[in-house]
Amino acid sequence: MAKKKPDADATDNRPPARLSSPGSVQQPSAEERYADQLTFLRAVDAAPRPPGWLLSPERVVDFLCGTRGEAIRAPASAELPADAPKSMVLEPKFVGSRALVERCVVTLAGERGLLLVGQPGTAKSMLGELLAAAISGSSALAVQGTAGASEDHIRYGWNYAMLLERGPRPEALVPSPVLTAMRTGRLVRIEEITRCLPEVQDALISVLSERRMMIPELDGKDGSVFAAPGFNVIATANLRDRGVSEMSAALKRRLNFETVPPIADARQEINLVQTRARAVLKESGTTADVDARLLDILVTTFRDLREGRTEEGWTVERPASVMSTAEAVTVAAAITRQGAFFAAHKDPVSLLPGYLLGVVLKDNQEDRERLLAYWDGPIRRRGEGDALWKRMYDLRKVLEEIDGN
Ligand SMILES: Nc1ncnc2c1ncn2[C@@H]1O[C@H](COP(=O)(O)OP(=O)(O)OP(=O)(O)O)[C@@H](O)[C@H]1O
Ligand SMILES: [Mg+2]
Repeated sequence: MAKKKPDADATDNRPPARLSSPGSVQQPSAEERYADQLTFLRAVDAAPRPPGWLLSPERVVDFLCGTRGEAIRAPASAELPADAPKSMVLEPKFVGSRALVERCVVTLAGERGLLLVGQPGTAKSMLGELLAAAISGSSALAVQGTAGASEDHIRYGWNYAMLLERGPRPEALVPSPVLTAMRTGRLVRIEEITRCLPEVQDALISVLSERRMMIPELDGKDGSVFAAPGFNVIATANLRDRGVSEMSAALKRRLNFETVPPIADARQEINLVQTRARAVLKESGTTADVDARLLDILVTTFRDLREGRTEEGWTVERPASVMSTAEAVTVAAAITRQGAFFAAHKDPVSLLPGYLLGVVLKDNQEDRERLLAYWDGPIRRRGEGDALWKRMYDLRKVLEEIDGN
């Protein structure tokens, strides 16, 4: 009798993959991360809420921009879980203008959608997620705009097996996140809307103006879905992608534009990079802290190259790559992680030029020359009066050693 072939699994001697425990994920959603704050705010918020909203406009802005060190106290009548705190000071999550966030909130309560535009890495997506979590309790309804997105991603598709067997009926319909948001009165996020083809973008026009989606394949009342109160659209667009100018005028008229600028204040940007890099390291299980001197030099360098001008007023040739705050967070976390993984790297600043080159050298070889010119200008000059910048200047050779060709 032929011997039974052992099955593939039985011969696999690899250790079993480590399963994460429930609730342990790489990046929890905003509503999970801030569940305690949202529960508290909902319980204490006595102000009027726009229809379908879980919080009043004022509290939504507090959730995003913080309470400026002041505590919100729960009134005796608030229905809070027994172990919940009775007062809370909220830290800012979005660093930037409170007025901008207020305008976003006002737009979302009105009859137009919101379009957040700006350079990459300025927290447009983060703003959208936080707004959706605060207003609708969920940031999960989202469409990622890509060149391959079709109208179905905005409207609806079909379960074809059921459609063929039983014909068009409501159960065979596969709703898009937009349709689900309309039915449930929630916010839907359309990420990178300008990356979608114009005809796909234009599927939003009737949704935004009539607040209704027609489903011609279904009869009677199933043939059109009316948006429930609370529904609206938050779209984001990156200024580096295909232009917002290519959007149809009809769609533009149905969206209020808000430009999200990079963080204006250097100190605020340093603090944010520190907080975010710490959080990223903690989530990935690295206990090492981010070096304060590294942060200073890193953020200053990013700001100089982003703005084309230093705080001293010296001109800098800007590279084509985006020197975003988000990218600075990634570099700060990576350098700290490298120091924690490899004992030889005690000096975090010595790792900076290599990472900077990685950020700068993306599309354009001439950017290496620009970075070298920055070294020979501002970094050299600062090095004349500051030991740390002098150390950075001495690392110029690293840029030459790492050959981009
Ligand atoms: N003003 C800011 N306030 C708070 N965090 C910020 C700010 N700017 C950048 N960040 C950081 O940058 C990260 C990335 O932001 P996000 O992905 O939302 O940017 P984006 O503008 O959507 O970028 P992209 O255009 O590349 O999609 C945030 O998670 C946050 O850590
Ligand atoms: Mg984004």
